[in-house]
Amino acid sequence: MCGIVGYLGSKEAYPILIKGLKRLEYRGYDSAGLAIHNGETIRQYKRKGKVSKLESAAENQPKEGTLGIAHTRWATHGEPNDVNSHPHTSTSGRFHIIHNGIIENFDSIKEALKKRGYSFQSDTDTEVLINLIEDIFEEGDMPLEKAVQAALNQVSGAYAIAVIDNENPDLMVVAKMGSPLVVGLDNGHFYVASDATPFVEYTKKAVYLEDGEMAVLRRNENISVFTVETDSPVEPYVHQLTLDIEQIEKGGYEHFMLKEIYEQPRSIYDSLRGRLLPEEEKIIMRGVSEYKEKFLNADRIIIVACGTSWHAGLVAEYIFEEMARIPVEVEYASEFRYRNPIINENDVVIAVSQSGETADTLAAIKLAKSKGATIFGVCNIVGSSIARESHAGTFTHAGPEIGVASTKAFTAQVAVLTLMAIKIGYERGNLPKSEYIKYLHELNRVPDMVEKVLTCNNDNLYAIAEKYAEAENALYLGRGVNFPVALEGALKLKEISYIHAEGYPAAEMKHGPIALIDENMPVVIIAQKNANYEKVVSNAQEVKARKGKIIAIISPDDTEVRRLADHTIEVEETYELLSPLLTTIPLQILSYHIAVIRGCNVDQPRNLAKSVTVE
Ligand code: M6R
Repeated sequence: MCGIVGYLGSKEAYPILIKGLKRLEYRGYDSAGLAIHNGETIRQYKRKGKVSKLESAAENQPKEGTLGIAHTRWATHGEPNDVNSHPHTSTSGRFHIIHNGIIENFDSIKEALKKRGYSFQSDTDTEVLINLIEDIFEEGDMPLEKAVQAALNQVSGAYAIAVIDNENPDLMVVAKMGSPLVVGLDNGHFYVASDATPFVEYTKKAVYLEDGEMAVLRRNENISVFTVETDSPVEPYVHQLTLDIEQIEKGGYEHFMLKEIYEQPRSIYDSLRGRLLPEEEKIIMRGVSEYKEKFLNADRIIIVACGTSWHAGLVAEYIFEEMARIPVEVEYASEFRYRNPIINENDVVIAVSQSGETADTLAAIKLAKSKGATIFGVCNIVGSSIARESHAGTFTHAGPEIGVASTKAFTAQVAVLTLMAIKIGYERGNLPKSEYIKYLHELNRVPDMVEKVLTCNNDNLYAIAEKYAEAENALYLGRGVNFPVALEGALKLKEISYIHAEGYPAAEMKHGPIALIDENMPVVIIAQKNANYEKVVSNAQEVKARKGKIIAIISPDDTEVRRLADHTIEVEETYELLSPLLTTIPLQILSYHIAVIRGCNVDQPRNLAKSVTVE
C-alpha cells in the first residue's frame, strides 16, 4: 500500500506530483506529503488526511522546483499524523525519502543508529532507512546511490523508495523490492510512480524495475539501472503502455465505483474477446495451452487469493469441479503461506489478484513454486509482481480499477476462470461436446445479459437502498455457486457502508445466524430458479417466519419467492454455473446506493487501500 510519485525534468514538479498523488490515492489516504527541490534547497509539506488537505497546506507557500517526490500513505508503522507522513528526512536534513513497504529489521538498525547520535522524529521504519543511508554516506565518502545501495543491502523487508539530496538538484535514486515501482521516460523527463497512472498523459514509455533493482535518474542523462546486491548493470526494458487517460478518469460518473460497475458489460466482453470463439467451437488461451499437460494431469488445483479475488476463486471451485472434475481447494493466501501446506509437483496453483501485488498472494505462490507446483496467474495488471512470478497465466482485461471496492475485476476474474474451466473440462473429456458448445454460446451472451441487469434494476435498487440504509446488520444467503456471491455481496456492503454484513450458505443459516433475525434484519437471498431452488424457498420461509425482511434476487417468472419476499430484483436466468456473473451485479449496486445515502466515501472507504502490499 502507499503510493509514491517522483519527477525530475524541466517542468514544475508540484502540479505533476499533486495530480499523481490523486491518481494513487486509492493505495492509501491516511496522509500525504511532498518534497520539492528548487535548485537551492528542498521544501517539504505534509499533512494527515487526503491529498486535498496537503494541497490546502501548500497553498500560497513557495513550491517551485523541477525535482520532487511525493507520497500518499496507508499507515503501517506509527499512527496517521503529520509527523509520521512521508517524505522523511535524515537527521542532518540533507536526504529525503518516500517509501512504500515495510523494513522488517528497522528496530535493531534504529537502536544502533541512536547509539551513533541519530535522533528520530517519527515512529516510522522509513525514517530509520534514510538515517541509515545518511550514516553510510557520511562514513563511506561515497556517492548517494552507493550509500543507498549499501543501506538496502542491510535491510530486510519490502520497499519501493525514491531518495533526493538537498545538495544535488539533479539526482533521484530509486529502488524496488517487493513493492511496485515504474519509471516513465520522456526525453529529459523522468516520472516515478507506484503504477503508470500518474504519468500516462505525459509518456507511454515505462521501465518497470524488478525486485532487487535500483535506478539512478540524473538530469539530462539516460536512466541507469543496476542490481542492489551485486551492482551489476541491467539493460532496462522499455515497455510501451497501452493505458489511456480516459480509462482512469470518472467519465461523468459521480464515483469510480459506479463507473466500474457500469463498465462490466465491456470488461467481461474484453476478458472473453479473442479467447471465446463459439462459432469456431474454440477457446484460445495461450497460457493454458502451454501448460495443458499440467492442467490435464493435475491431481489438484489450489486457488490462492485474498478478499474479493478469493470469492472469485470460490466461484471457480464450483465450476472447475463440475466441469473438469479436478479437486479444487481455495485458500486464503495469508493462511496458506503460514501453515506448511502439502504441495506437490502435480498441483497447479492458481493465483487470483486484481492488482497482482497483494503481498500474501505473492508470498503464497513463491512458497508453492519452491515446492515444485505449477503457478498460474490470473491478474488484471500487466507487468505486476504476481504475473511475473507465475509460470504462465492469463490476464483479465477489466481495465484500471480505481474504486477500492472491487467490482469489475471480480466479474472479469469469474469470466476468465469460467473460460479456463470450460476449456480444461472439455479437453479432459469431462464436458461432453454438446455441453461444451452450449456453454460457449451462453457465455458469449453474458455481456449483453449484464447490460440488461444494469439497465433494468437501478431505480428499484435505489428504493430498496433508501429503505435499509440505516440498518445495522445484514445477512446474505446463497447456495451452490451463488454462496460465494453472497459472501461478495456482504463484503461489498460492509467495506463501503460500514454496515455489519455476513454471507452464509443459505442452509447454514439455521446453524447459528438465524438467531440474529428479527423484524429489522434485511436478508438478501439469491434465489434464482436452479437446482437448489426449492431448498432456497424453504430458507426464505424460515426467514419470513422470523419476520426478517427479504430482499430476493429472483428469476423473472418466479412466483414462490416473490410471494415471500419484501423486495424482489429480477435477473435473467442463465446456466447455473454462469449465474454469478449476473447475480453479483445488483448486490454491487445495492451496496453502492446504501453507502452514498449514508454519506460514506465509496471510492476510498476508511482504513482500506486498494493494493495490500503488506502482510
Ligand atoms: O489486488 P487483489 O485482487 O489481490 O486484492 C485482494 C483484496 O485486497 C481485494 O479484493 C479487497 O478485498 C477489496 N477491497 C475488495 O473489494
